[in-house]
Amino acid sequence: MSGSITAPAIIVVGASGNLGPFMVQALLEQKARFSRIAILSAPEKKDKFDTAAKDGIDIILGSYKDAKSYEEFDVAISLAGNSIMADQPQMIDAAIRAGVTHFYPSEFGVDIMQPAFLQERYFRDKHLTREHLRKRAGEVSGFIFTEMIIGAFLETFILSDVFGLDRPGRKLTYYGNLDDVKSFSSMADTAKYTVDSIFLPFESGTTERTIKVPNGNYTIREIVEVLNDIDGTQYETRVFPVSDARKEQELARLAKSNDLELAFSLKALFSSPYAVVPKPWQNDMFPFKPKGLVEMIQDCI
Ligand SMILES: NC(=O)c1ccc[n+]([C@@H]2O[C@H](COP(=O)([O-])OP(=O)(O)OC[C@H]3O[C@@H](n4cnc5c(N)ncnc54)[C@H](OP(=O)(O)O)[C@@H]3O)[C@@H](O)[C@H]2O)c1
Repeated sequence: MSGSITAPAIIVVGASGNLGPFMVQALLEQKARFSRIAILSAPEKKDKFDTAAKDGIDIILGSYKDAKSYEEFDVAISLAGNSIMADQPQMIDAAIRAGVTHFYPSEFGVDIMQPAFLQERYFRDKHLTREHLRKRAGEVSGFIFTEMIIGAFLETFILSDVFGLDRPGRKLTYYGNLDDVKSFSSMADTAKYTVDSIFLPFESGTTERTIKVPNGNYTIREIVEVLNDIDGTQYETRVFPVSDARKEQELARLAKSNDLELAFSLKALFSSPYAVVPKPWQNDMFPFKPKGLVEMIQDCI
């Protein structure tokens, strides 16, 4: 179990995405605690990791479906994006074949075990991954896994249009109620929690744990008010019922547009009350205080 390995060797899959650079930075900050830190890269993408290599991170060239890629590593963190989320069971099997004993699936979102999210299209591949991990942990002695639950990333809300914010246009298109509370996190703090959690021992007799560490709960209106102040203008907010997002999701499904179907599924589920991460949270188990709302927003812009 990595919680009891003094200096584990760790490999990150999907390190070039949105969350990846924060995870790499958090690992570098804790470098002395690891015997080896590596990034798995497809051979044709290795140039993306030149800076990480200069910082002393090993770049392993190979496929995430191949056991060879994970040889001699104790811990694997998957930061798979949506387009390869469904491949995680193969990734897990390859990692287990190579001897990885602690796996972090690409979760980093809301608590998908809430009943309303069990059938949610957006989380289908995350659920399949969890089922697979449970099955494998039942079969392979010593194999454990950790899910990090953080709510929504504020970087994603501010810097992309995924949740309906158009920062250059100073507009928000939102499905739901602006006064609903959501759990938000910063990618930097989530990465720090993830890296620190590797060294927290598992409860005896367990093979799975869920660590809930959002930065805090905030309403969409609060976020827009901070943006109004920082950007010195009033954002135009256009609010629609959640049912409109579901209609768009269904139209996209019928048109076989997977990306659009997922995009509207995400907008709809973001508006549900379950976008709040249920308490208790585990932030107090870690030796740092997460950033507050204003600091998180300032950091990402
Ligand atoms: N809660 C939230 O608000 C929120 C927001 C964003 C993300 N997340 C979660 O955080 C996790 C990581 O998300 P992310 O945004 O960092 O992911 P991402 O940027 O979309 O992708 C991460 C990595 O996946 C690999 N990848 C993607 N498409 C691929 C393809 N077609 N072939 C091979 N590799 C491919 C790439 O790795 P390589 O280039 O190394 O091959 C990429 O760097 C996910 O679980 C996501 O759901 C949550």
